[in-house]
Amino acid sequence: MLQIDHLYKNYGKFQAVNDLTLHIPKGDLFGFVGPNGAGKTTTIRMVCGLMLPAAGGIMINGVNALLHQKEIKKQIGYVPDFFGVYDNLKVKEYMDFYGSMYRMSSREIERISDDLLELVNLSDKKEVFVDTLSRGMKQRLCVARALIHNPALLVLDEPNSGLDPRARVEMKELLLNLQSMGKTIVISSHILSELSEMCNSIGIMDHGNLMAAGRIEEVMEGVFGSNQLIITLDSGRETAIRVAMEYPGVKISSAGEQEIRLSHTMTKEEIAKMIGAMIANDVVVTGFHKQEGNLETLFMRVTGKEEGGQEHVAESNR
Ligand SMILES: Nc1ncnc2c1ncn2[C@@H]1O[C@H](COP(=O)(O)OP(=O)(O)OP(=O)(O)O)[C@@H](O)[C@H]1O
Ligand SMILES: [Mg+2]
Repeated sequence: MLQIDHLYKNYGKFQAVNDLTLHIPKGDLFGFVGPNGAGKTTTIRMVCGLMLPAAGGIMINGVNALLHQKEIKKQIGYVPDFFGVYDNLKVKEYMDFYGSMYRMSSREIERISDDLLELVNLSDKKEVFVDTLSRGMKQRLCVARALIHNPALLVLDEPNSGLDPRARVEMKELLLNLQSMGKTIVISSHILSELSEMCNSIGIMDHGNLMAAGRIEEVMEGVFGSNQLIITLDSGRETAIRVAMEYPGVKISSAGEQEIRLSHTMTKEEIAKMIGAMIANDVVVTGFHKQEGNLETLFMRVTGKEEGGQEHVAESNR
């Protein structure tokens, strides 16, 4: 659906996007993450045809976006990271205004904007002035107007910033709903827990470079490895380590009194055998599980901010 190839963008000498190659399949809900200044907005603006790259290619639905800007704008709905002020415009007029920019007939605009306002739960606000809406409502209105021309690709730049928890849940439900309607969605955000709940694929950017991208599980596996095991025990640590070392590829990562972490190349059967052998040797094993990462630890690992970097995410949770 969206194919970005070797994309570059610089502001003077500053390289904001550096050799970005990324493929987002149709129907994906793709989360674009990265610290402040990583280059997300710059990338999004190039994809939406608002800024030209220094080099590289962007294909949307098989169409060269850089050569056919007009055509491409019909395929994209863009929700920017700021909301312009529209004095003296009512919600309905606001939708009319955007519809007419796409040269839609007034009847068509009315029908579609009624449906869209219902979709974003603003049907009862049609006659209300836009600048009196709450921030969450404005964001939802922004999504509605980005959809007025029925684009296949919806791109949202931090739609959740400044929203309260309920408004964020509503936004998440709206995006999942749109995905189920067949839209491909790209969303940039700093709220990692939310992205991991709704996105099926992600890209992590840092200093203009794409550090990792793909299905969330695959990216996790690539970064953390699938072969990390945590064994919890009440006693018999030394014996447990001795037994474990006899099994394929085992390396002890850490060994506390009640928890041993190890990497390995064992099959499931071999893991079961190893745990059995530990128990047979009087180790009191209380549990064992595969080490699972979450998006936050993944982000820290990939952007190299694991130590002392926690404040970054907190600070970015604007
Ligand atoms: N118009 C501009 N002129 C000069 N530098 C710019 C311009 N726009 C962005 N930059 C720089 O390019 C880098 C990438 O900015 P960008 O806005 O794409 O980051 P971002 O990932 O969207 O960050 P944030 O999470 O804060 O929104 C930053 O270092 C920024 O200062
Ligand atoms: Mg940005």
